[in-house]
Amino acid sequence: MATIHISAEPGDFADVVLMPGDPLRARYIAERYLEQPREVTAVRNMLGFTGHYQGKRISVMGHGMGIPSISIYATELIRHYGVRVLIRVGSCGGLRPEVELKDVIVALAAGTDSRVNRLRFLDNDFPAVADFNLARRAMEIAERRGQPVRAGSVFSADLFYMPDVERLHATLVRMGMLAIEMEVAGLYGVAAEQGARALALLAVADNLPLGRELSSAERETSFDAMIGLALELAAEEAAAVAPQP
Ligand code: HPA
Repeated sequence: MATIHISAEPGDFADVVLMPGDPLRARYIAERYLEQPREVTAVRNMLGFTGHYQGKRISVMGHGMGIPSISIYATELIRHYGVRVLIRVGSCGGLRPEVELKDVIVALAAGTDSRVNRLRFLDNDFPAVADFNLARRAMEIAERRGQPVRAGSVFSADLFYMPDVERLHATLVRMGMLAIEMEVAGLYGVAAEQGARALALLAVADNLPLGRELSSAERETSFDAMIGLALELAAEEAAAVAPQP
């Protein structure tokens, strides 16, 4: 049966789902990288596809912008479709000069100004952390591929257009954060609440202190490098979650 926001049938999603923010990116990943991709949902044009990568069944679905949006899709995928592993593949703004454009960040943990995890956790501070084995595997795959990645914490902001942004950025840098984006803390909270595993891989699309940003062509190529890593991770996880013949 469909959910409010996803029209797929039970069994339409694989155990492992890659999640870009933009649904057209989901279509791009499915059409470019998956064998025999099939569209399984398109409610509100939030497209989802299932196909195979290196013989392993994998899905890809957009999650939209911001914690409320990713929380809806992640919750329904886990609760109603039995998804076990969610891998966000997104972009972020680098907070430090040395976090360069095109770098890929493995988001080990996320701070946030959102209250969503407090709502779930009796108003206490919830540690929004990645699944350790996913993060470890991502680092191992990156090493094997000779692909440099940075592992560290990020900040998930509710507002893209934020007042007093210089003060916030200075504080985030002082507290060791690499980048800012808008979803990871929500995804990690949902995964914990719903008993699934999650990781976010983030391509640096802007360098905020240096005021630099990627062109749209450069965004595509750096996105492709990150997707290559994410797909290998997804295929390894798909084999581990449900050993395939
Ligand atoms: N802020 C929030 N999210 C982002 C940014 C940013 O500067 N860049 C890419 N995603």
